[in-house]
Amino acid sequence: MVLLHGMVIQQWVQLRAYNTFGISALAKEFAVFDNAALLAEILANYKGKMMVLGGGSNVLFTKDYAGLILKNEIKNITLVNETEAYVYLRAGAGMSWHSFVMYCVQNNYGGCENLALIPGTVGACPIQNIGAYGVEVKDIIQQVEAYHIADKKVVTFTHSDCEFGYRESIFKNKHANEFVILTVTFRLLKSPVFNISYGAIATELAKMEVTNLSVKAIADAVMAIRRSKLPDPALIGNAGSFFKNPTVPTQVFDELTKNYPGIVGYPILNGQVKLAAGWLIEQCGWKGYRLNDAGCHSLQALVLVNYGNAKGTDILSLSKQIGESVKIKFGVTILPEINIL
Ligand code: FAD
Ligand code: EPU
Repeated sequence: MVLLHGMVIQQWVQLRAYNTFGISALAKEFAVFDNAALLAEILANYKGKMMVLGGGSNVLFTKDYAGLILKNEIKNITLVNETEAYVYLRAGAGMSWHSFVMYCVQNNYGGCENLALIPGTVGACPIQNIGAYGVEVKDIIQQVEAYHIADKKVVTFTHSDCEFGYRESIFKNKHANEFVILTVTFRLLKSPVFNISYGAIATELAKMEVTNLSVKAIADAVMAIRRSKLPDPALIGNAGSFFKNPTVPTQVFDELTKNYPGIVGYPILNGQVKLAAGWLIEQCGWKGYRLNDAGCHSLQALVLVNYGNAKGTDILSLSKQIGESVKIKFGVTILPEINIL
């Protein structure tokens, strides 16, 4: 055990409570930081492999982690600027994402209400550009402040520096594990513009008998839809969608439609169609499948679950079988969305 600035680096820490899959794995070393100076001090004294953990809601541990896990606890919200139309809020990376959304909803700031109830931290939201119900977080991110581990300095990324895409950013691929995100600055609307393009929201609002749209009504509708579809990690271990929705050229989609008239796809840019991976997986017969404690959720086939004591390798092996069967049946490759460690 090493003492740093009053902070302890713990050894061989059980990670089960730190990942929403509820997978048992050990971290060789584990430290919590709640400010950039402390992070810099920890890193100045540490040489081996390391990774940052937020809420652990997008990771699958398949073995013990033979390095240092840094648990980010930087939590605060600062109003950094205000214009007639916008407020600019800077949030600490360790803050829970949903708390940030609720703060905006309470203040009637528009832009993130469709992203209510996504688990995890503010610091992880730019990594895969979280998205749901017609909105992606890139729509409101102004800048990201991050600590460069090798250069030992803080770097500011503008929105375009981040190279956001569907479940993508430079932090997930090009510069994976090079930075520790410290804060994210968001631009929110003082007079919200509502996005109810995702069909299920309008249906839910009607069910709730909402006549006056508000950010709160949309957040409530989104939360109700999510609770009805997605398993609560507090009850069944999971990390949300295990795979990304794949894209294929329109021509391939048209061919698939001939054989599978029910196939679900949405046209996107550049002559591509995004396919619903959940539909492909369900058609391969996996929905509701369970082998020991690893399974494919019975309400959402895109979500793999741990019923209790599954190992990370059980979930990984199931995901490979699912991917192979989708490839054989449809000729389509589905890639993991989550970070496999
Ligand atoms: P973690 O799982 O802790 O980390 C994810 C990755 O980011 C890791 O590689 C980690 O090293 C890195 N990382 C985390 N914090 C930092 C940091 N400060 N600096 C540098 N790297 C960092 N996602 C969606 O996009 N849309 C959804 O609708 C959605 N629904 C979900 C529903 C459920 C029930 C669950 C369990 C997950 C869902 N997810 C969804 C996935 C997940 O919530 C998001 O990916 C979330 O942003 C992960 O945040 P986290 O803090 O838990 O990240
Ligand atoms: N579908 C099936 N069977 C299933 C699941 C889905 O046929 O078991 C079909 C249905 O036709 C449905 C369509 O797939 O209409 C789309 O399903 P859903 O609206 O549930 O969305 P999704 O594509 O499965 C994506 C995101 C979710 C996000 C929702 C809502 C990805 C990989 N997943 O899921 O994000 O919450 O849309 O916007 O893009 C996550 O990233 O972890 C996540 C949960």
